[in-house]
Amino acid sequence: MNAKHKAAWIVAAMMTMGCTDAPLVIYSAESGPSMTGGKSDGTSDFYPRPTSVHLSDPSLGPVAPGTIQSQVPNAVAYARYALRVAQRGLLGVSTLDTAEEVAYGWAELASRSMVPQNTGLRYALTTASESQRDELLAELHADAEHATDSTTLTKVQARLADIRAGVRACASDGFSPEDCCVTVGYFAALSRQDDWDEWSAGTLGTDFFTEWSAAVIQREQAEVAQGKKVSVQPFVQLGAKAWLAQCAPVLQRVPTTVDSLKAQYGDYTRQSGWIQELHPVSIAKLAGRRIYRRMLPDGTRISVAESLAADCRVKETEVIVGSPDGPMQFFSYGARDQQAPHGYFPTAIGTEQVKLTPDSCMGCHYTFDERRFNVMAPSHEALGLRLPVRNGQPQWRDDSGCYRPGDTVVWHDAAVREF
Ligand code: HEC
Repeated sequence: MNAKHKAAWIVAAMMTMGCTDAPLVIYSAESGPSMTGGKSDGTSDFYPRPTSVHLSDPSLGPVAPGTIQSQVPNAVAYARYALRVAQRGLLGVSTLDTAEEVAYGWAELASRSMVPQNTGLRYALTTASESQRDELLAELHADAEHATDSTTLTKVQARLADIRAGVRACASDGFSPEDCCVTVGYFAALSRQDDWDEWSAGTLGTDFFTEWSAAVIQREQAEVAQGKKVSVQPFVQLGAKAWLAQCAPVLQRVPTTVDSLKAQYGDYTRQSGWIQELHPVSIAKLAGRRIYRRMLPDGTRISVAESLAADCRVKETEVIVGSPDGPMQFFSYGARDQQAPHGYFPTAIGTEQVKLTPDSCMGCHYTFDERRFNVMAPSHEALGLRLPVRNGQPQWRDDSGCYRPGDTVVWHDAAVREF
């Protein structure tokens, strides 16, 4: 469908829906006409803009992802982001860039936690019971609209079940949830099964955290010196991903319900001052999405994206909060408006994938060079996202029918791919 067809379609849809006020339509393509309006106060700094712009700073201009070399291994980028989440600004704003700095940063933080190293090890080694795993599985799949791709816990989900069990055991022993998360986070980001097999209960010394960080860094540096590795990478990405799903909402004090989200940031569905857009075909969701966005007086940017179900109900709510002095926050709510450790993403074959939050978000909302997770509105073009067609059938849903007065309608001019 080209832009002209879309425009004709929406005008026809408006007539059949009998709406009185015509929608404002924006094409997020370089060639498309540009308009602003709706509930917006005209200060949107994201749209309209070229689809190739995929940056933390929209004024920097388009990028050609093929020409960009990643400068940071993904696992290091994850551990660095997780550390910034764990720090909660306590140690001041620091860039903590190298793998070495991140490993020592984690040690410093874990040493300050009230959970002693040997007690922490016990929580880090806690495994979820069968019923805890079943409970998580049910929770993850509860709001799926289509068949999901898996009926068992994936590896990272199983790790989440264990981390959740460990953090809960720690908190029920009377430690603060934040301290529990920091200590369990150290072990999750910097150790794996082989290490745990070597440690036995009660054997970790008082300087354990710093000594272990030093040991893994030295091991990595030696391997780099011998040419066995390209760069120092002592982190366990799977552990960091699972830990973030459990602990980022705790450490970032994410509102636990959609109602409390609205209480904290304002009711985006009713208040003026929010930009309100209907994306009838989100390229990330392959269905409708309503996006609300505003800048708060202190410079914090917030964007709320509601995934729409076929009947226009809100199926899940995904939120990004970018404050000037902390890591960008990604969190989500399920259909019953409770904060949830997951979101749903479409596959090319019409099923849904259950992916962890913020891990999945970080897979798209990041800069290609330094792998910083601070891109609020990614470019589907830069990410290489396509509209899938299978056996001649489009695998996306056009939710133009969910239009409400106040929506600015945004069409993405995405490429189609046969699967
Ligand atoms: C497959 C890549 C992908 C993943 C995974 C993803 N996003 Fe996005 N996101 C996008 C794209 C592309 C857009 C631009 C609008 C669109 O196509 O929906 C976007 C837009 C958004 C917006 C609106 C930004 C704005 O102001 O325009 C929010 C909020 C958002 N995403 C939150 C999240 C959260 C939270 C997660 C994780 C639960 C997530 N996204 C996961 C690709 C992704």
